[in-house]
Amino acid sequence: MKKIICETYEEMSAVAAFTIAVQVQVKADSVIGFATGSTPLGTYKKLRELYASKFVSFSAITAFNLDEYYPIKRDNPQSYYYFMWENLFRHVDIKPPQINIPDGSAVDPEMECADYDAKLMAAGGTDLQILGIGNNGHIGFNEPNEKLELMTNLVKLAPDTIEANSRFFDNISDVPAQAITMGMGGIFNSKHILLLINGEGKAEITKKIFDGTVTATVPASLLNLHPNVTVIMDKQAAGLICD
Ligand code: F6R
Repeated sequence: MKKIICETYEEMSAVAAFTIAVQVQVKADSVIGFATGSTPLGTYKKLRELYASKFVSFSAITAFNLDEYYPIKRDNPQSYYYFMWENLFRHVDIKPPQINIPDGSAVDPEMECADYDAKLMAAGGTDLQILGIGNNGHIGFNEPNEKLELMTNLVKLAPDTIEANSRFFDNISDVPAQAITMGMGGIFNSKHILLLINGEGKAEITKKIFDGTVTATVPASLLNLHPNVTVIMDKQAAGLICD
């Protein structure tokens, strides 16, 4: 995995945003995999700026989001659908029919997962997949386990994920217990994976993905097996690894 260590979160976000923008400049109809959470907020802010300055247009891209809580309605401000519209989509020229986010209100979640995979496969997988990492090493909501799922699936969130994500909710009991997530196969079927990591709190898990081993108990460690992964970190996240 290629490492880029940045001085600050702002610098890391700019490097990530330019990487995405250049991908879209080179291939206007790129399929981009988007992530939510705190980590990519700076990247999406910079992408909005790059769009406003006419550096990039998203008019021909197709978007696939990694995951969505289940159950949750799209108009719930905690939904990832809402997050993506607030932080990126409503500010740029992406075409709404080209946006794919698992439907957290689907009556039949298994069918929703199968449909999502069919759309992802029909699009040929992603050209660029943005990822964050959970403190427990999850990517998407592929939680540490002895077995990992390849396909999009309905998962039970790990207790540490529920606790970590409770910061966005009034009460921990409001955090949905499940989510629909792209599986490891959907993530790996990307031509280029961009893993973003920031903050001292992620230093321990960052060390684990660079320790020379792979294990399903640290799902992000499997990224070592993908031929084209770029990890963009700030100095704090990279604090326990050798450059
Ligand atoms: C979000 C996602 C998650 C987050 C991870 C880190 O779509 O798939 O894997 O990337 O939980 O979240 P933050 O960035 O909030 O620390």
